[in-house]
Amino acid sequence: MNVDLYTTPQEISDGSLANRTAVVIDALRASTTLVTALASGCREVIPADTVERAMSTRRRIGPQGVLLCGERGGLKIQGFDLGNSPREYLPDIVAGKTLIFTSTNGSRAMVFVRGCHLGLIGAFINAEAVVRRILSANTDVAVVCSGRENALSIEDMACGGLIVSRLLKSKPDAALNDAARTAQVLYERHAHDLLGLLQTSDHGRRLVEIGFGDDLPFCARIDATDVVPVIRDSKVVKE
Ligand code: MLT
Repeated sequence: MNVDLYTTPQEISDGSLANRTAVVIDALRASTTLVTALASGCREVIPADTVERAMSTRRRIGPQGVLLCGERGGLKIQGFDLGNSPREYLPDIVAGKTLIFTSTNGSRAMVFVRGCHLGLIGAFINAEAVVRRILSANTDVAVVCSGRENALSIEDMACGGLIVSRLLKSKPDAALNDAARTAQVLYERHAHDLLGLLQTSDHGRRLVEIGFGDDLPFCARIDATDVVPVIRDSKVVKE
């Protein structure tokens, strides 16, 4: 098994995911938010790369049972129903609903990996369940970090490193690219204080500044759930 990690989706060349399982990671916060939404019983999530596309999708499918969700600059978009704090995605708000979701980096990465063999959404909170799903697919793996504004983000690297580290327990002979090895070392170096790593990351500090500091411990709860969102026909669903 080859396990390649990409620090941003832009590093992936066209068509190269066709035979691979792709795991999209935006640990702070989009992937954690979608895992939480599906764990809370939402029907499906339609990721949109832009605010305009999110709004046109809602016009197309209508408002019934649909919530417009997402952020720009970390804050809820004007006129939207929910922002991007995973703590907002409670069962009494999202159960049974279709969510149209756009975020600065995460939803773009989800759109980017369409065309892969199998697309999964990974976060600290569902890491072990994602690893089990990767192993059952038994293909080569692309760990796709969303990054931040087209650059590396340390929290996505650490989350990718956790997944790589767990994969190696079952597949010790897996061939890692340099980024996957770097991510593994990063995670293992910070495993004893993951929350500290998130709190000192660029994006973590921004979230604290704008009042979302409580999202960090929420996003850092390793293996809190078994829910693995799957990207299927341009939608994200619970398998
Ligand atoms: C993103 O997609 O860029 C993030 O999820 C931003 C955020 O934390 O709101």
